[in-house]
Amino acid sequence: MKESSAGFVFSVPYEIAVVRPLRQTTLKEREEALQAAFYNTELIPQESIYIDLSTDSGVSSLSTGQLAAATGARALEPGMGLAAEGSRAFQALKEQFQAIFGFPYVIATTQGRAAERVWSKLHVKPNGVVAGNMLFPSTRMHIEMNGAKVVDVISEAAHDLDSTELFKGNVDLTKLEAVFKAQGEKVCCVYVELAVNSCGGHPVALANLKAVKAMASAHRTPLFLDACRIFENSYLIKQREPGYHDRSIQEIVRETCDLADGLTMSALKDLLVPTGGLIGARDPASYQKATMQGFLDGVQPPGSALEMMTVALREIFAAESAVAGRVEQVNYLWRRLNAGVPLVQPPGGHAVFIDIKKFLPHVAAEGHPAEALAAFLYLVSGIRATKGPPPAPSQVERGVDLLRFAVPARKYVQGHMDDAAEAVLYAYAQRNEIKGLKRLDKPGRGKYDPAHFEKV
Ligand code: F0G
Repeated sequence: MKESSAGFVFSVPYEIAVVRPLRQTTLKEREEALQAAFYNTELIPQESIYIDLSTDSGVSSLSTGQLAAATGARALEPGMGLAAEGSRAFQALKEQFQAIFGFPYVIATTQGRAAERVWSKLHVKPNGVVAGNMLFPSTRMHIEMNGAKVVDVISEAAHDLDSTELFKGNVDLTKLEAVFKAQGEKVCCVYVELAVNSCGGHPVALANLKAVKAMASAHRTPLFLDACRIFENSYLIKQREPGYHDRSIQEIVRETCDLADGLTMSALKDLLVPTGGLIGARDPASYQKATMQGFLDGVQPPGSALEMMTVALREIFAAESAVAGRVEQVNYLWRRLNAGVPLVQPPGGHAVFIDIKKFLPHVAAEGHPAEALAAFLYLVSGIRATKGPPPAPSQVERGVDLLRFAVPARKYVQGHMDDAAEAVLYAYAQRNEIKGLKRLDKPGRGKYDPAHFEKV
């Protein structure tokens, strides 16, 4: 609770109604679990995990309203088919989506990557170019699978882990102009991810997005958003961008969307559902084609997912402190660790990232230091962290190595954050004891199989 001119401001607008027990493991059990998982924390069974910070996606807690809606009459009606309008669950979602995001057309999908797949098929041309700000791997791959090349135009600050620049997700306008100059008509679209996951959950400022839109429009090129963390981005704009402090998150969300010609989003993050994705479109042709493509690709979500997304949108905007509470919890973990632990600066929206090269300078890249730290942390605390999505090509080029602590929304309480902070601080104090891991290349295991390691 914080005091403000309007009286007290509450921290979060919900209470815990249903809980899932966590098994409290012993050191010996964790040692065995690690061995059985070949020291890859991704392979440890869920039942042996205490706090899971491997992702914030699809694992946030459901509300009582979402649970009731998921089993209600509309959720159990037949699926959408080609005439999505026939589904009452879809109609309800469409109305909510239009009211909040302002796009006249919405297409619902099973996940964010399904939305990207459908949208890229429509808007990415073979031999084309897409300018993006360190796009998420699935977005990049869908663009590439349609025969285009992604050119990264994110600000240089995004690569400087120590830079305290507040909007590291911003597009570098000089880089973008250079892409237009060199590629001209080949540029299919500018794709901007909000609260850029790979570089630390860092926001994009509205002033920057306005400049990007102006440049894209001048070249008659559409601007698309990856908006899966748009609420966090909007909250960080409210906190950090001059002129937005007194604006509601809803207003900032709308102003952001008004700049875009289309958006794709995973609903597993900000919309607090285990499955779902959305496309926002402005023209009827894109809407019809995307609906058909989603139908053909078999990526239409069930009624229960539609209903849970609708309720999430309604509940979030009934009390915006839900968004504030979520970002502030990440911020709390960041502040506790920033007492000495080398972190990506400044705090982002959904996760805290450790700069591995500074944490374990004595473990060379061949010793898989991020995985070694994750294994050590699991051993001492039962807490799971993973590297998260594969790094962007520009990060690989620069040798950036991060360990991500993604905080699922409204899942953990402050005590969990304190435990996570204690465990990382302990690991930092013991860092000289942490040795590297050796990757096992066993015959028959392909490059996409999860890595197996052994101690060195
Ligand atoms: N865009 C961003 C920025 C993401 O972070 C993700 C997923 C997606 C798109 C794809 O959405 O999972 O619904 O298909 N990120 C998860 C993560 C997997 O752990 O960061 P999806």
